[in-house]
Formats: sequence, structure tokens, C-alpha cells
Amino acid sequence: MATISTAVFKENLFNGKVLFCTGGGSGICKAMTEAVMRHGANAFIIGRKLDRLAKSAAELSNATGRQCGYAAADVRNPVLIKEAVEKCVAQFGRIDFVICGAAGNFLTTIDAMSENAFRTVLEIDTIGTFITIKATLPHVRATRGSYILMSAILYDRGLAYQAHAAAAKAGVDALGRVVAVEEGPRGVRCNSIAPGPIRDTEGFDRLTVGTPEDVDNSAKSRVPLQRYGAVADIANCGVFLFSDAANWITGQLIAVDGGELHTNMGM
Ligand code: HXC
Repeated sequence: MATISTAVFKENLFNGKVLFCTGGGSGICKAMTEAVMRHGANAFIIGRKLDRLAKSAAELSNATGRQCGYAAADVRNPVLIKEAVEKCVAQFGRIDFVICGAAGNFLTTIDAMSENAFRTVLEIDTIGTFITIKATLPHVRATRGSYILMSAILYDRGLAYQAHAAAAKAGVDALGRVVAVEEGPRGVRCNSIAPGPIRDTEGFDRLTVGTPEDVDNSAKSRVPLQRYGAVADIANCGVFLFSDAANWITGQLIAVDGGELHTNMGM
């Protein structure tokens, strides 16, 4: 497992804190979990595959010296998510931070997409985020904690082959703003991160076509900062948003994308 460097942040930033993370068994959310643990927090990760979760939890603990619990649960199932929250609180006593990261995706035109395919991604991304927020909210209120919802860039431009994910992430963003406004008076913050293309993730592999050389070259024309992202880029943003340095930031959607959002991308 690659080390996620968040060295610009104070070492004991999150001592005594607890992170609950859906989608934490792999990819970007696993890296975000590692970063928060490296700064002292314990974590509890959720995913659908028990084997992968167990392996990831052990890796995260070994890499950071902190504890990592886990539960296999589908974010579309409110009963299982509530049980996972209870298991986390039984193990660690509290929840300070939540990452709503579980997502589904594949490339398909509307023409070729079944109603069920569209519904499936909305249920995972949007309703799964709502279910996770509902289940964790009493605990996050108790710690005056903070949410990060995982969004995406470019979906608001009519991104081809992404009707399901675009609609789903628009819903996630809207939901995040409502959480920020409703829960702000209780001291709870909620922000969203929109990652650009991040190398070595399932989403990147599913959404990018061409040889490795084509992929490298395409970054030069797509991304003003001339490279695709690394999971550490998103992890650093997550550490910042959970930290007190961000304690007057809520309801925001932050693109971490090397500037890709502001290019024409040939569209
Ligand atoms: C067309 C597909 C399909 C594909 C599934 N379906 N894969 N249709 N092309 N490649 C259809 C199925 O035929 C079915 O419809 C419906 O979707 C549900 O599929 P199931 O396999 O039964 O569902 P499930 O087991 O719940 O799996 C859902 C899944 C999930 C969405 C496919 O396994 C998945 O996405 N895993 C990958 C996770 C991932 O990539 N995460 C990174 C996300 S990146 P029918 O009609 O046949 O019943 C990201 C970036 C966002 O989110 C960018 C936004 C702009």
C-alpha cells in the first residue's frame, strides 16, 4: 500500500477522533481514510465485499498504527447501514467525521441504458448518501462533527455516457447544501469534494480509454496542471476540510482536479 503523504498538516491533528467512511475499502476513500488515520483518528470503513474490507482495514491499521473497524453493508440498505453505525459507535464510542464515498459507475449512452441501470446508480450515489447521513447524524451532532460527500467534476456540462452518474452527483451536491444549512446551527459542517481524474482508481480505469501512453498524453491537453491526480491530492483536501482550518467552510463543493473544470475540453 502506497504511503499517503499529508506532511503539511500537524501530526496529531485528529487524535481522539473517529471517521466513518462508506466506500473506504478501496480507491480514493481508502486513501482519505488512511490520511485521517495518519493524523491520529480511528476509522470504520464500509463496503460491499467483506474480504476486501478486512484486508483494507488491516492494511490501514498497519500503515498508521490506529484502529480500523469495518462492516460489510450496501449503502442502499438503511438497516445494514444503521447496524454498521451502531457497530462503529460500540467499538469507538463516537463519530466525528463521515465520508459518503460509495458510488457506482459505468459508461453507457442513455439509449443503451436500462431504467434499472439508471436507478441503480442513483440509489447507490444519491440515496446511499442520504441513508448514510440519516444514520450518522445523531452521532455527528453530538461531536459537532463534519461530513464530506464525494461528488465529481464536469457532470454539469452534459457529460456523455454519464447520465446516471451526472444526475446522481447533482443530487448529492444539492443534498450537501441542505445538510450545511439545516445542521450549521448545531455546529455540523458538510462539504463536497469533486475529484478530477485520479490515477490508479477503479473509476479512472472504468472511465478512461486508450494505451498508458495515450492516457499520459491526454492529461497534457485536458489538465492545466499537466498531470492526472493521485489519491493523495484528494486525501489532503479531506484532511483540510475535516480540520479546524476549515471551521468556517460549509456547503461548498471543492473541485480537486488540476484545473480541468475550467478548460474547454474540446466540448
Ligand atoms: C450498462 C450496466 C453496466 C454496464 C451494470 N449495468 N453495469 N449497464 N453498462 N457496464 C446495469 C445492469 O445491466 C442492471 O440493469 C443494472 O445496471 C444494475 O446492475 P447490477 O450489476 O445488478 O447492480 P449492482 O450489482 O448493484 O452493481 C451496480 C454497479 C456497481 C453500479 C455496476 O457494481 C459498480 O458500479 N461498481 C463499480 C464501482 C465504481 O466504479 N466506483 C467508482 C465510481 S467513479 P438491468 O436492466 O440489466 O437489470 C465515480 C465518478 C463519477 O463515481 C463521475 C460522474 C461524472
